[in-house]
Amino acid sequence: MPYAGLDLEGKVALVTGSARGIGRALAVGLAQAGATVAVSDMPSRLDLARETQAQIEAVGRSSATYSLDVLDLKSIGDSIDGVVSDFGRLDILVSNAGVRVRRPALEVTEDDWDEVIDTNLKGVFFCAQAAAKIMIGQGGGRIINISSQLALVARENRVAYCASKAGVANMTRALALEWARYGITVNAIGPGPTETPGLLDADTQTEDELQRDLAAHMPLGRRMQPEELVGAAVYLASPSASATTGHLLVVDGGWTAI
Ligand SMILES: NC(=O)c1ccc[n+]([C@@H]2O[C@H](COP(=O)([O-])OP(=O)(O)OC[C@H]3O[C@@H](n4cnc5c(N)ncnc54)[C@H](O)[C@@H]3O)[C@@H](O)[C@H]2O)c1
Repeated sequence: MPYAGLDLEGKVALVTGSARGIGRALAVGLAQAGATVAVSDMPSRLDLARETQAQIEAVGRSSATYSLDVLDLKSIGDSIDGVVSDFGRLDILVSNAGVRVRRPALEVTEDDWDEVIDTNLKGVFFCAQAAAKIMIGQGGGRIINISSQLALVARENRVAYCASKAGVANMTRALALEWARYGITVNAIGPGPTETPGLLDADTQTEDELQRDLAAHMPLGRRMQPEELVGAAVYLASPSASATTGHLLVVDGGWTAI
């Protein structure tokens, strides 16, 4: 018999940026653990998001797709209202939507800075705020923010990204303090390099450069697959994690162990 402490049966989850990559893997993984999962992404990715919905339905769980651009506060509120109206509640929010801009710090423009900070930090905050307002009325909930191993260590050409992900890690602690009294836990996951469409699009390394980079930084010796993050999300969403809050759960193939 599976361990009941990790069972998400009866829970309703919303995953931002779940049209592809880590968001898709987490959405499908939460469904495999028993949750009803609302898929969401920005308007231009809704066809892909519906593919995630179909994968969730294929494992026998209910799902629906919502147009949620984390840069548009109204769409955050409308989507969360939609989830509550369609499924009756919201128990788990996974704030996964994020962008990367790779550029030397001396060349970063105001637009670059705003895009990364507004999506990765401001967007995560306002999703958490909107979800918490629902969760407080229900007597509790789980918020899981996707940060990065780059919350803890730095890497060249990613100044805004590093700032945003460190911001998410400490914002997670700040929200955990304020919302513990409402039965809401707030945690973050810090993935290391994970093979996703977004990572591969941004990748400029040759195979040789990649292998040298992995040898220097990644004890695991390879990039991770999105599915390798599912267990961390299921745990943080589950009854087992009732006393885990304000935590950054790093799943990085050993990157930050060096
Ligand atoms: N892939 C990695 O190596 C890695 C490592 C650490 C952290 N992360 C984080 O994991 C998360 C997912 O990354 P990924 O690699 O799967 O990226 P990805 O680009 O493959 O997927 C990101 C998803 O977020 C969506 N998104 C972007 N901006 C959005 C917005 N304004 N509103 C709503 N959705 C939006 C995209 O449409 C896309 O579906 C990000 O927060 C990223 O920073 C990724």
